[in-house]
Amino acid sequence: MIRVIFLGPPGAGKGTQAAVISKNFDVPHVSTGDILRSAVAAQTELGKKAESYMNAGELVPDELILNLIRERLDQEDSANGWILDGFPRNVNQANFLDKLLEEVGQPCECVLNLEVPDNVLVSRLLARGRKDDNEEVIRNRLEVYRKQTEPLIEFFRNRQLLVSVNGHQPMNSVASDLEQVLQA
Ligand code: AP5
Repeated sequence: MIRVIFLGPPGAGKGTQAAVISKNFDVPHVSTGDILRSAVAAQTELGKKAESYMNAGELVPDELILNLIRERLDQEDSANGWILDGFPRNVNQANFLDKLLEEVGQPCECVLNLEVPDNVLVSRLLARGRKDDNEEVIRNRLEVYRKQTEPLIEFFRNRQLLVSVNGHQPMNSVASDLEQVLQA
């Protein structure tokens, strides 16, 4: 059983590595970005509300995200562990998660922070070409990350949960570094 959070800027490889670990450890990969993109594609109420924020590279308001996480972690498959990718994204979300995990008695074991230089992030995202992967929106996503998400590095370091891993290596090398951390 593993309960881990992926932290890192847009393009750091959170989704890529979370998918590998999810398969290897047989625990659900909970990506708020994927959940929101599905909601946008299906044009649900959530999707309609989230779409303009996502297209601009802004965070979707917390009130749309917090219940979604509560419900997801309440599902049966989360009882044996989970990997959070893209959540929490700011200090308010992190405090919410803290309380929620205490409530359900499922402490997070470790926060994996992927480190990748900015110029590499930008070229990875431009090459991927998702709807929010254009220069202007990428610039904003990076700024939003610096202002709102990066403070979580200190937040989790203070809780002795943070482990930083070099994400600027071939995907397999990142995966094996992460596996070593998780098996330690
Ligand atoms: P989200 O989907 O979370 O996007 P993100 O954080 O910007 O992350 P990315 O998916 O771009 O990057 P990643 O680190 O997962 O990298 P990946 O593995 O894909 O969020 C999108 C939007 O949703 C937000 O802007 C916001 O509006 C909203 N949102 C989501 N969660 C929210 C929340 N909690 N609160 C509020 N709003 C929220 O890799 C990127 C590319 O690089 C891929 O092409 C991959 O193949 C490649 N790559 C990966 N690893 C390597 C490697 N080692 N070497 C070479 N290439 C690599």
